[in-house]
Amino acid sequence: MNALSHNRIQIMHGVNLDQLGRRNPAYYGGITFSQLEQTIDSFAGDLGLDARYFQSNSEAEFIEHLHRLEEVADGVIINAGAWSHYSHALGDALDLAAVPAVEVHLSDVMAREPWRHVSVLAQHCIATVSGKGPDGYRDALVALKAKLGG
Ligand code: DQA
Repeated sequence: MNALSHNRIQIMHGVNLDQLGRRNPAYYGGITFSQLEQTIDSFAGDLGLDARYFQSNSEAEFIEHLHRLEEVADGVIINAGAWSHYSHALGDALDLAAVPAVEVHLSDVMAREPWRHVSVLAQHCIATVSGKGPDGYRDALVALKAKLGG
């Protein structure tokens, strides 16, 4: 039985994340995108959270989804892929979404190329999790659950 009434968590994946399974296993492991979503779903279920999923390779669609987010979610986990490193438009849209956000990266971005060391989204998020693979989404769900009063 879940006592938390605000438990709708939107999981948002951006550009190229749908190609997991074909991406460099040294950074992303061998997991496919659908396996990743199933893993997140089982973490969410264990925590009594209701996870919903959205992925797009179109920055415009991604931003438009953020514009509607307040109606459908109480919190958001965002892995925006390469957009994380330069899209201030996404940062503005995260502010507009007005729900707590946690940024996740599967790979350890600080151990990769210098351009990946900057996240323009981090300042719009309550936490960033990087380099923990799929387990990072559990950390993000735990952080959001605590923020939502769970
Ligand atoms: C990523 C890291 C980004 O630098 C990269 O562009 C991605 C995936 C990650 O999950 O590790 O597409 O966000």
